[in-house]
Formats: sequence, C-alpha cells, structure tokens
Amino acid sequence: MRYLTFALAKGRLAKTTMAMFEQLGITCEAMKDKDTRKLIFVNEEKKLKFFLAKASDVPTYVEYGAADIGVVGEDTILEEGRSLYEVMDLGFGRCRMCVCGPVSAREKLQHGELIRVASKYPHIAKDYFYNKKFQTVEIIKLNGSVELAPIVGLSEVIVDIVETGSTLRANGLEVLEEICDLSARMVVNQVSLKMEQERIRRLIQDLRALKAAKFKSTIIDAGNVSGKEK
Ligand code: PRP
Repeated sequence: MRYLTFALAKGRLAKTTMAMFEQLGITCEAMKDKDTRKLIFVNEEKKLKFFLAKASDVPTYVEYGAADIGVVGEDTILEEGRSLYEVMDLGFGRCRMCVCGPVSAREKLQHGELIRVASKYPHIAKDYFYNKKFQTVEIIKLNGSVELAPIVGLSEVIVDIVETGSTLRANGLEVLEEICDLSARMVVNQVSLKMEQERIRRLIQDLRALKAAKFKSTIIDAGNVSGKEK
C-alpha cells in the first residue's frame, strides 16, 4: 500500500485536523512534540504521511500531486485558484471575509468612488469589486497586519478575515460589507481521487460521521482559517 500524503496548513488548522483524526484512530505522536522542527510525520501502521506547509502553499502541493489531500482555509483556496477537488467543509476555523475600514469609508463604498483597497487577498478583493460590485478600485497587496493600511493612509478600506472582530475594534475599524463566510476545507488532488478512491472515500465518510456527532473543537481553539497561533 502506498502512502497517502496530507498537506496541512501549519498552526491551528493542522492541530485541529489532527485532533479530529485522532478521534478516528489516526494518530501521529511525533507531531505533538512542541519543540520539533520536523516538517514531515509518518504513521507507518496506516501508511499515512503528514506535512506542515504555509497555508498559501497547500493548494500548490495538492494540485501538483506532492500531497494527495490538503487541509486549508477556504480563503486560501479562493485566492490561489488552483485545480483541485474541494471535497469537504470540515466545520472549524469559521470566520468571514469582509470589506473593513473606518466608518467614514462607508459612503465612498456606496458611491462607487475610486478607492484603494489593501489586502492579503488581491484576487478575492478584485473578484468582489470588479465582478460583483462593478466598482473600479486600486488593489494593493499586503502580507499581514492589513488593518494598518487605512490607519496610516495607505488605503481607504481593506479586504480581510474577521473572526471575533477584536483586531478591528482595537484599531477603530468596522465591517463595512461582507463578502463571504469561510471555514477549513479538505481538498484532494484530481488524480489521487481516482487512484485512491476507496481510502479517500472512507476517510471522508468517517469525517462526515464525526462531524455529525458534533466533533468538539473546544478541545483546541480552532481559531480562524488563517490558522495563526494567537
Ligand atoms: C487575521 C486577520 C485579522 C485577524 C482577524 O490575522 O488577517 O487580522 O486575524 O481575527 P479577529 O477578528 O479575531 O481579530 P492573523 O492573526 O492571521 O495575522 P496577520 O495580520 O499577520 O495576517
């Protein structure tokens, strides 16, 4: 039997995924070592391999078949636009993709003014403004701490993930428009789904049953899809 390889978005998504797998009897003790710098972990008994990757790289590993299966936030899947099968909403890491900014920006959004939009998600932002709102905007790509942009005058608004809303509140910003809901998803390589149909189908079935039995994500605070330890 060949190894089935999983690419997990490192951080809380990976931890919650492993907690879920553990309830199905799939364990990987070496992964629990907080001090480990290892990136690949093996379960010899079940012929499974798990590796931890930067969230934005997970769809790439899966598309090219370096991983059969990936677990990553829907934000990343939408942003990366890779060719893969999205097979399951895992039900954790729930949050929203929103347009946020100071209250004063609300009017500019409503009047369709040419504004600047800063985001870690330029494709999602572009799709929203150009294809859904039909509003021409200038999109500026940032790599983190996006809430800074409207505060220091880089942009009028941001497109970003909102989970508890505490980052927005702490910085005097608000949700101005909601783009979509997000959660952690399981994605599968297109060839793997055919070649490993039986094993993957069984895993999805087991995960669905676990979800139905209300997997308690309180074991680990799953956080939002960005998966960062807070
Ligand atoms: C994410 C996101 C927001 C924050 C939202 O940031 O970009 O900044 O979490 O969560 P909240 O609504 O619960 O405050 P992340 O922690 O990934 O850090 P980043 O700024 O480096 O992207």
